Amino acid sequence: MPLKLSISTSEPLSTVADIAVVGVTEGAKPDDGFLKDLAAALGPVVAHNLKRDEFTGKKDQVADFQTNGATKAARVVVMGLGKGPLTASDVRVFAAKAARLAQGSKAGSMSLALPNVPGAERAAAEGVVLGAYRFLNYMTGDRVPKAELSKVQLLTHEKVQKAHKDAVSVGEKIGNAICLARNLINEPPNELYPEKLADAAAKVCKDNGLECIVLDREGLEKKGMKLIVAVGQGSARPPHFVHMTYKPKGTAKKRLVFVGKGLTFDTGGICIKPAPGMEEMKGDMGGAANVIALMAAVAALKPQVEVHGLIGCAENMPDGWAYRPGDIFGSLDGKTVEIINTDAEGRLVLADCLAYGRALKPDMMLDNATLTGACVVALGPTVSGYYANRDELADRMKTASKDAGEAMWHMPLVEDLREGLKSDWADLKHTADRWGGSITAALFLREFVGDTPWIHVDIAGPSMANKPYNVYAKGGTGHGVLTYLKLIESFENS
Ligand code: BES
Ligand code: MN
Ligand code: ZN
Repeated sequence: MPLKLSISTSEPLSTVADIAVVGVTEGAKPDDGFLKDLAAALGPVVAHNLKRDEFTGKKDQVADFQTNGATKAARVVVMGLGKGPLTASDVRVFAAKAARLAQGSKAGSMSLALPNVPGAERAAAEGVVLGAYRFLNYMTGDRVPKAELSKVQLLTHEKVQKAHKDAVSVGEKIGNAICLARNLINEPPNELYPEKLADAAAKVCKDNGLECIVLDREGLEKKGMKLIVAVGQGSARPPHFVHMTYKPKGTAKKRLVFVGKGLTFDTGGICIKPAPGMEEMKGDMGGAANVIALMAAVAALKPQVEVHGLIGCAENMPDGWAYRPGDIFGSLDGKTVEIINTDAEGRLVLADCLAYGRALKPDMMLDNATLTGACVVALGPTVSGYYANRDELADRMKTASKDAGEAMWHMPLVEDLREGLKSDWADLKHTADRWGGSITAALFLREFVGDTPWIHVDIAGPSMANKPYNVYAKGGTGHGVLTYLKLIESFENS
């Protein structure tokens, strides 16, 4: 049963639900606001429990009450929101935590009191959908959970207007789009191979009325995307490329291109990876999953800008046809590349996508990829690193990621490291030495964008999570999509 969201003007305690969740800011008095209403309904147990649990409204504090029939809500959870003022992204995280708690405690229905923040309706809808997310495609028998959060009522003090309902509906669609990215990341690599990833992109286009061009292996060869073909040549599953296009009604204010790395599995190829943890490389298509999700979200948001989504899909496998260290390939851009380490396959796939995107003459091109372990070493597993060839773009990105509540850090394109990419035998080597590994990957990509205003986001850390946090679930997260949406909105407004 899919999750059904609604919005209404009513009080949490007088709304029928398995669980009612209400946020309380730090320092709220027990004899004021909602806590006062709760005490009036349940009696002295409220003050007693709040004191016992040292509940002061600090972020993530939780006080839990069974109401035993005293209110229409069967259970009330008071959640600390921390010190204000709250932003829409705080509301999104609050809603996600509430939905995760409800889902985890087998509630079928939840009512959620919206904090009084501009944009709370859309953010809460996004958060609920993201927090309730689980991936159950391969669970059978007892492993299938019996309960499912299927009804959520968002409660507001304001009179509900059409704009609020529309905001909930857009938020729900954005949340579902991000869950699609998560599903694609979580799918096992025997099921989700390059052609299937391309199919998923084509389906999003079909369902949302977007233009779509799919290139299979022959198409890639004809087009001259030699680097994608090289990376995919060791796999029995041929590489694919997809170009998705959203065009607004009327004149577009800007043209933006988003690119994603779509390695449905990365063994490392001939430079094979060690076995421990290799299964995580099913998520090496997180960048492509984000771009697919972004196109679905854009179709719901309908911004006044043209948005192109490009994904390069391949599987990096070692076999008799696999590409080798020492091989030299041409590229769509024309530059020749000497292969050094076949495990640095992502930048090769991206290079051809960027050359393709550059030809669209965009006002901005952004690529995102689970590109380097070095970026995870630099920033840890929850922060992605971004690079830009314009200061103005880096500033925009900083604001976008902050507004979206996604942790991203601006990294430098260190010119001194460029000489590490010089080859004796071709125009470029595709890897340099170990030091600054995330930076040299970015410098390699820069060779393929020309003068195009460009941002590169290395999402190797946060694209997958080993435990739930913020709006993210364990496994694929879709980290990045909310930031790219903010970026699109910023281009729409200037
Ligand atoms: N897909 C990996 C990067 C990665 C590592 C993503 C850990 C998520 C978690 C990428 O293709 C890769 O193997 N990069 C190499 C590059 C090196 C050979 C220059 C790396 O980071 O070790
Ligand atoms: Mn690799
Ligand atoms: Zn990879």
